[in-house]
Amino acid sequence: MQNDIQEVLYSEQQIQDKIKEMGEQISRDFEGRNPLVICVLKGAFIFMADLVKQITIPLELDFMAVSSYGASTKSSGVVKIIKDLDISVEGRHILIVEDIIDSGLTLSYLIDVLERRNALSITVAALFDKPARRSVELDADYKGFVIPDAFVVGYGLDYAEKYRNLPYVGVLKPEVYSQ
Ligand code: PRP
Ligand code: MN
Ligand code: MG
Repeated sequence: MQNDIQEVLYSEQQIQDKIKEMGEQISRDFEGRNPLVICVLKGAFIFMADLVKQITIPLELDFMAVSSYGASTKSSGVVKIIKDLDISVEGRHILIVEDIIDSGLTLSYLIDVLERRNALSITVAALFDKPARRSVELDADYKGFVIPDAFVVGYGLDYAEKYRNLPYVGVLKPEVYSQ
């Protein structure tokens, strides 16, 4: 275990088992719909890679990078598109892949954008859900784990861009972010 990690919340095996279940369910639900699967960079990149390998139906995928305008304005819900999609969402069944839903502001912004671009349907797969911090009403259609309000990193989730490469999700030691 990495020295900055206080406790492992979800092991690599637990995460992979859950993703397999999610992939099987998504494969059943999207049969014949050729979904456009959208990865929300950067956090969702590992989840995206593992999830699509567990989806057994034809699909297309694309990537979008978004960012809030700095930490202090994050609660304003102003999200900036850093990298837009290459493929048109018009008339498509969209599956948004997110690592975590926290306040819900990133996702609600994204859903709004994709609706205005005339997506046919929008569905959300989130590996982690932290409902304690929600500021807009929003829920994932496919959810991996409901997690406590702790500072978690790993498996795509960062603190100041670090720890994304950990294969598990753990709680960061308070002394790492309080110094
Ligand atoms: C994180 C996470 C989600 C979002 C969730 O992304 O990956 O995308 O925050 O928070 P919210 O529900 O309060 O909007 P972040 O903005 O840190 O960018 P990153 O994915 O590049 O780390
Ligand atoms: Mn993110
Ligand atoms: Mg981040």
